[in-house]
Amino acid sequence: MADDWTDLIGVADLTTGWVTRVDLGARPLAVYHTPTGIYVSLALCNHGGADLCDGYMDGHLIECPLHQGAFDVRTGAPIGAPATRAMKTFPVRIENGRVQIRLKG
Ligand code: FES
Repeated sequence: MADDWTDLIGVADLTTGWVTRVDLGARPLAVYHTPTGIYVSLALCNHGGADLCDGYMDGHLIECPLHQGAFDVRTGAPIGAPATRAMKTFPVRIENGRVQIRLKG
């Protein structure tokens, strides 16, 4: 089986309860370190393009800094207006203390 996991960042480089931006080439990603696990989504809000990594995180909620739309970081689901569409999220695994995501599938 092909190794289709992409290495992002060390778990030790994340802050518990907060979001960290990782640029994967030209693709900005948001890495959320929550009390129940690590989740990854695209970083730029699908409402108006603001960087969610500059927003406010509380538990599993990320609030956009521009219009205060909110998403569930576990699924990308919109949970607060004016956000209406889910953010793209990625499957995550931890391997040897590193956060890895699967870009496809
Ligand atoms: S840019 Fe994020 S809610 Fe508008």
